Amino acid sequence: MSANNALHIAVLGGDGIGPEVMAPALEILRRIEATTDLKFRFTEAPAGASHYKETGKSMPDSTIRLCEEADAILLGACGLPSVRYPDNTEIAPQIELRMIFDLYAGVRPARLIPGVRSTIVGADEKGVDLVVIRESTEGLFASMGKGVVTDSEARETMVITRRTSERLFDFSFRLAERRKARGKANGGLTCVDKANVFKAFAFFREIFDESAKRHPNVKADHLYIDAAAAMLVKRPWDFDVMVTENMFGDILSDLTAGLIGGMGMAPSADIGDRYAVFQPCHGTAPDIMGQGKANPTAMILSVAMMLDWLADKHGLESAAEAGERIERAVDKVYAEGIKPFEFGGSNGTADVAKAVLAAL
Ligand SMILES: NC(=O)c1ccc[n+]([C@@H]2O[C@H](COP(=O)([O-])OP(=O)(O)OC[C@H]3O[C@@H](n4cnc5c(N)ncnc54)[C@H](O)[C@@H]3O)[C@@H](O)[C@H]2O)c1
Repeated sequence: MSANNALHIAVLGGDGIGPEVMAPALEILRRIEATTDLKFRFTEAPAGASHYKETGKSMPDSTIRLCEEADAILLGACGLPSVRYPDNTEIAPQIELRMIFDLYAGVRPARLIPGVRSTIVGADEKGVDLVVIRESTEGLFASMGKGVVTDSEARETMVITRRTSERLFDFSFRLAERRKARGKANGGLTCVDKANVFKAFAFFREIFDESAKRHPNVKADHLYIDAAAAMLVKRPWDFDVMVTENMFGDILSDLTAGLIGGMGMAPSADIGDRYAVFQPCHGTAPDIMGQGKANPTAMILSVAMMLDWLADKHGLESAAEAGERIERAVDKVYAEGIKPFEFGGSNGTADVAKAVLAAL
């Protein structure tokens, strides 16, 4: 925090719909500033496929330095399928940031907001309110940029370390404890793995069980990833917090976004011991970019997650209240019938943003 107590926020709009959903999110923060004692200082910086096209780098060193100095990092989305490195992979500074700042806990809540129809039969009555925690620095992604490809074979290696797993599970149990304290009934933490086949996952599970002993107040259980996928689409209301490896979490969290209306509804936070990046779960959606159709809700809810994290870090009660105010405003807007293009309605980015601002 700077001398005048302003929270310094690094703003990385990125590519495609990233800047389109970032603009209303910043407007909402300015409204929070005008109605509370909180102060923000925003510094925008480049990152992503367009920057790579111009300079040959996914992001400049100045962006990394800014992220290091800021109190929190907001990111839109990065990457375009048409822009690739010579090895045919995409430009992904959002993944590099997780590695650079050791953001091991990818927190991806999926809450079905009343008024939004789920595709899952029964969800409208029973509700969906779960969190996928995706380990975000190792697992299969540890191999990023290091895979070995020959004419006849390709190899990528998964890495699970004790140091990261212990911090990940302790973080996950603490989150489950916090949700329980806030009234989540039948709560618990489920470790999702493939320990029946891979030694690395048996190791992952062992460390989870050790962590469970340190957190006896939370119900802990395990599921194999394949069974978890099936159960999530049949009975998502049975889940509270789930913790899993990077690649499994990448896939499962898109599935859970699908349960609550779509990618445009799913916020996320990549959290480490010191730094954190807040961004929607979705990508740059090139199919709808530039059309005003992107749903900014996920980005707006990511801002609420950022305020909650800043509140915890700096003991700022007004930031926690502001985060809750944003969530309540989003709920009100959906209860009153807003329907984004994303799930068959006719409300674009500007309509959703305007309605949330009014509800604030
Ligand atoms: N965190 C990130 O920056 C991130 C995450 C995922 C993908 N990507 C990148 O984004 C690009 C596109 O990837 P993709 O198509 O697999 O995933 P995507 O999330 O961009 O899009 C998947 C589908 O969801 C829709 N969608 C996504 N966000 C939406 C929103 N806010 N409102 C309405 N509809 C929305 C899209 O129109 C598309 O039909 C790729 O270059 C990929 O590498 C970036």
